[in-house]
Amino acid sequence: MDNFRNMALQNTSLLLIVLQICALAWQAWAQVDLRMEDTVEVYMDDSAEIPCLYTFTQAPMMVMVQWFVRERDGVRVRISYSDLTMQKVDENTTYSDRISVRSNSDGETLTIQDVKLSDEREFFCQVSGFSAGSDERRTLLKVFDPPEPPVIEGALSGVSVSGESTAKIASCETRDGYPKPNITWYRDHIPIHPANGLVNVVTLVTRESSGLYTVQSDLHYKVTKEDKDAHFSCEVSYFVPGAVRTSESKGVNITVYYPTSSVEMWKESPQGLVKEGDTVEIHCQGDGNPPAPIIFNREQSDVELDSYEGLLVLKEVSRMDSGVYECHALDLDAVNNDEVLDTLQLTVHYLDPAVVVPKDSEVMLKGESLTATCNALSSLETSTVWFKKGLEVGRGHIMQLQDATFDTAGRYDCEVTVPSLPGLLTSGSVHIIVQGAPQIKDAERDFELMEKVGAWVNLTCEVRGYPRPAITWSITGSQSQSWREVDKKETEDRIHSVVTLKVTTDTVAICNSTNDFGIETKIYNIKSIPFLQTPTARKTSVDNSGVIIVVIIVSILLLAILGSVFYFLYKKGKLLCGRSGKQEIINAYSTKEKTNKDDIVVEMKAKKTEESVLLKGINGEKKPPNDQNSTLRS
Ligand SMILES: *[C@@H]1O[C@H](CO)[C@@H](O)[C@H](O)[C@H]1NC(C)=O
Ligand SMILES: *[C@@H]1O[C@H](CO)[C@@H](O)[C@H](O)[C@H]1NC(C)=O
Ligand SMILES: *[C@@H]1O[C@H](CO)[C@@H](O)[C@H](O)[C@H]1NC(C)=O
Ligand SMILES: *[C@@H]1O[C@H](CO)[C@@H](O)[C@H](O)[C@H]1NC(C)=O
Ligand SMILES: *[C@@H]1O[C@H](CO)[C@@H](O)[C@H](O)[C@H]1NC(C)=O
Repeated sequence: MDNFRNMALQNTSLLLIVLQICALAWQAWAQVDLRMEDTVEVYMDDSAEIPCLYTFTQAPMMVMVQWFVRERDGVRVRISYSDLTMQKVDENTTYSDRISVRSNSDGETLTIQDVKLSDEREFFCQVSGFSAGSDERRTLLKVFDPPEPPVIEGALSGVSVSGESTAKIASCETRDGYPKPNITWYRDHIPIHPANGLVNVVTLVTRESSGLYTVQSDLHYKVTKEDKDAHFSCEVSYFVPGAVRTSESKGVNITVYYPTSSVEMWKESPQGLVKEGDTVEIHCQGDGNPPAPIIFNREQSDVELDSYEGLLVLKEVSRMDSGVYECHALDLDAVNNDEVLDTLQLTVHYLDPAVVVPKDSEVMLKGESLTATCNALSSLETSTVWFKKGLEVGRGHIMQLQDATFDTAGRYDCEVTVPSLPGLLTSGSVHIIVQGAPQIKDAERDFELMEKVGAWVNLTCEVRGYPRPAITWSITGSQSQSWREVDKKETEDRIHSVVTLKVTTDTVAICNSTNDFGIETKIYNIKSIPFLQTPTARKTSVDNSGVIIVVIIVSILLLAILGSVFYFLYKKGKLLCGRSGKQEIINAYSTKEKTNKDDIVVEMKAKKTEESVLLKGINGEKKPPNDQNSTLRS
């Protein structure tokens, strides 16, 4: 049987070969060469041109060209006809009003306007040259309509990594494309390929009534924690005439739920070291999503501390709050909840109040030495500085006061700071009292003053000593009512007294200061300088009148004696003339005892009398009663 069938097949092939040879022989003397493109691609709504080119080996008497289309039901329908005499588009076909045929030297071109999706079919061109030969070719018209850009939508709810299988995490749709577009999925721009149990893509293709395709693709995916930051996108690829184009959607991210695997604890504030009184904020955060509730407790303690959403606030901490703090995440999904914890060592630094020794105040004797200390307990290294009246007098917690003087006395402040934690500061003070005998300012310097008679002078006596000395003034020379204390200032260890006195004669004033420890005095010597003054007011004092009378009587007596002497000399003829000048006057002043030298005495007496009278006259009228001395001295 097989043999028989083989023979039959061989016979058939043989027959075909014979027929083919006959046709070739026929074509050899009369044939048409007809060329058409296999496909013509065109965008919907554009115009399509389908050329039909032919050449004859022998010039034909007559050429007839007919265009056909195959209808949906498979029936061929002519749509156009042309020959040497005429060319027409067939009426009452689906193409009657949308096609035109153009003839040119090497064939015809069928133009279809306003191409529709339904135009995607075969167009036949039949060329008949009768004895010159006939042939038919066809072109498939392909119509393209790009789809709308893809629209992506990520899963609205979170996806848990604990899920058993894949979950739909995104959906992508592209509408109205032709031919059917493809959708590809990407994760961070890397294509995702379906993989069993991990990635599954479900595609739904819809053919719209318009004939266009709408493609929807759902990505089913097994999420991992790493996908929390991933971006998923879809890409549509579609054909266009002569090419493949793509269009990518925007990326979407998805909410991935994963259990807490670790927690982290940190001190948010204050920055740096913590000191007593600070408010401390400790944060704790787990790495799970959604965040698991956080609880805080102190190490080795089950007492849960008050916290809110992973924030523990410790107000006004003290050293008692130092220690290790723990935080736990309460995650039901966590593999081992007990191990998901973090710890933080909190150290609260402190500085206790400064303790100064000696306390409060200390009495020293002049010349003594003292060591004062200032200490403040701290968890950190401290620095101590001593101040007196705001000026730094020492560093370190020990202060040595050696060989005390009154200047040593006063308040000493010590300030203890913690260099590594500027907020910590404490201070204390000690009051140093230096006891000692009075010490008058400038006591060693002699006070000598020349002052005009009648002038007022101020004498200042400034004494230091502890206990505060008392000052007494004793003034000799001037009358007691002519001086008084005009100023007195007292401090703890100082007294300052000013007396004012009127110079009437040489005066010695003594400032006598005493306290329990001794006495110190200062002596003020004031030399009075007599001086002349022009009369400014005429005032006769009752006290003066007696003196004037005496003077007048003495003058009269002197004049009488002078007269006697003149008379005597006149008798003797020994009158001296022409000698005068200061010398005599000075001599007269300085050598009163030389009265036995007659020749000088005579002149001196004359001069002196004149001068004395003059002085008396002036002073007598002008000077107050206690100017007596100077008058007498003159
Ligand atoms: C085309 O069809 C219309 C009505 O369907 C008819 O009246 C007309 O005669 C037809 N024309 C041709 C050329 O067949
Ligand atoms: C769509 O996918 C199919 C199958 O992989 C492929 O043959 C076709 O060329 C693709 N189309 C486009 C437009 O990429
Ligand atoms: C997606 O990413 C943006 C920024 O990259 C972020 O703000 C947003 O919260 C994310 N959304 C989800 C669902 O993860
Ligand atoms: C003496 O002191 C008093 C009071 O301080 C003052 O008013 C007066 O001017 C002073 N006199 C002299 C001469 O300095
Ligand atoms: C100073 O005063 C003290 C006590 O009042 C007295 O003993 C002493 O003699 C006085 N000295 C002088 C120089 O006045």
